[in-house]
Amino acid sequence: MNILSPSILAADFSRLGEQIREAEHAGARYLHIDVMDGMFVPDISFGMPVILSIRHCSDIFFDVHLMIQKPERYIKEFADCGADLINFHLEATEDVTGTIQKIRFLGKKVGITISPHTPAKALEPYLKLVDMVLVMTVKPGFGGQKLIPECLDKVREVRAMVMEKGLRTDIEVDGGIRLDNVDLALEAGANVVVAGSAVFQNKISENVRQFMEKLKKAEV
Ligand code: DX5
Ligand code: ZN
Repeated sequence: MNILSPSILAADFSRLGEQIREAEHAGARYLHIDVMDGMFVPDISFGMPVILSIRHCSDIFFDVHLMIQKPERYIKEFADCGADLINFHLEATEDVTGTIQKIRFLGKKVGITISPHTPAKALEPYLKLVDMVLVMTVKPGFGGQKLIPECLDKVREVRAMVMEKGLRTDIEVDGGIRLDNVDLALEAGANVVVAGSAVFQNKISENVRQFMEKLKKAEV
């Protein structure tokens, strides 16, 4: 099944709960939550208190994307504030296996993320250990950027690796995904699609519905 994961980075934070409920009522099942620390990426977004507050207003699946240095330091905190899946960057830690184990131990789903400069091959040793691979289709750190087409070749490579190993790993794409290029990402082999500005910038329900329609069509 193809899944849409709207990214709240593009939401109006003064009306966050309301906008999440709007996306949820329109049919979104996942919510993409971008945590930035000002170290791994230049910007600082938000952290546990915000996630905890929105946990109280929605049961939607929380797809947390940690863009933080040494994510192993904070796994318990993100699990405790309501993450369902924790995505961390391969480039951000020296202890990838330990970080995976920490997330598993807390009963959460595990995602491993690669930035545009990291080759698909770097994932090989960890593929069997994770539920999801997140292939960044822009340089992490900011919403509203343009998709880098070469990153879709990497999605193809990851899909081939997953198939070859007989795994059921989800492949998520994140960055610059819009209604007019989502088909390319799906064709390349992604089955979870993040969209920030293309969902939250206006007419949230309408955008969610249009994305979901495209995602469904690509399944048949
Ligand atoms: C970028 C973030 C993305 C971002 C996507 O570093 O990881 O999740 O919110 O935003 P759009 O869809 O606007 O590119
Ligand atoms: Zn993200």
